[in-house]
Amino acid sequence: MSEVREAVRSRYANAAKQIAVINAPGSFPAAGCCQADGPDCGCSGSYASDELKAIGLSESVSLGCGNPTALAKLEPGQIVLDLGSGAGLDVLLSARRVSPGGHAYGVDMTDEMLELANRNKESSSVTNATFLKGTIENVPLPDASVDVVISNCVINLAEDKGAVIKEAFRVLRPGGRFAVADMVELEPLDPTVKQALDAWAGCISGTIPIDEYRAALVGAGFENAEFEIHATENAPGIDGKVGSAYIRARKP
Ligand SMILES: C[S@@+](CC[C@H](N)C(=O)[O-])C[C@H]1O[C@@H](n2cnc3c(N)ncnc32)[C@H](O)[C@@H]1O
Repeated sequence: MSEVREAVRSRYANAAKQIAVINAPGSFPAAGCCQADGPDCGCSGSYASDELKAIGLSESVSLGCGNPTALAKLEPGQIVLDLGSGAGLDVLLSARRVSPGGHAYGVDMTDEMLELANRNKESSSVTNATFLKGTIENVPLPDASVDVVISNCVINLAEDKGAVIKEAFRVLRPGGRFAVADMVELEPLDPTVKQALDAWAGCISGTIPIDEYRAALVGAGFENAEFEIHATENAPGIDGKVGSAYIRARKP
C-alpha cells in the first residue's frame, strides 16, 4: 500500500471510531468534512430531517462535503453505487429512494468504516443496501451494472483520479449518471500544504483544479460535465483556496 493510501486508511479507521463515540446516546455530535469533529464544509443542513429520521441516523455520521443524493433523481428499481461510502449515510438514503426493486452499494477500503456502515444498516430498516470491501480504483462490480454513481468527498483522496473516473464510467450503464460532491482546488495551494500527508487525508492536498477534473471526465468518455461550487474552506493557510463542488456528468 502506498504511503498516501495508508495515511488515508488510517485516518478513516480512526474517524470511524470517533463517529461511533460522538453519536453515542446523550452526546452532542458535530458535522465535519473529512474528520469526525472538524469544520463543516458544505454538508451541514443539506439532508432532509424526515429522510434522516426514517433511517435513524443524524448527518453527524457524514464526513462528506455536500449531499450527493440531492444531485440525481433516484427512482424505484435503480442501482446506485457510492464510491467511498464511509459510515453509510448516502447509501442508506439512496437505498430507500430506489426501493422497491432497486439496490444501493457502497464501496470502501477501510474495515472500521465497513463495520460501522453495517451496524448503521442493521439499526435502520433498510434491507436493499450492501457494503463491499474494495477500492474506488478497482470497484468489485461488473461493467454497465449501475444507473447512478454517487460519492461524497472521496475522489480527491485518490492518487489517480483518472483511474477512479474511468472506473465510474465502466460500471455505469449507457445513459447512467455521475453525481458527486467533492473538494476541488480553486487557487494554487502552497507547495508545503500540497506535500503534507495529513492534509491529503484531510481532503485538502489531493484536490485538483476544475479544468483538470473536467478533462478527466471527458477523457473517460463522460458528457455534459457540470461543476457548481457551494462552499469554500477557510481554515488557516487555506483561505478559500479549496471548495466543495457538486459535479454532474452523464455516460452517453
Ligand atoms: C472523507 S470520508 C467520506 C465518507 C462518506 N462518503 C461520507 O460522506 O461520510 C472518505 C471515505 O473514503 C474511503 N476511501 C478513501 N480512499 C479510498 C479508496 N481509494 N478506495 C476505497 N475507499 C476509499 C475512506 O475509507 C473513507 O471511508
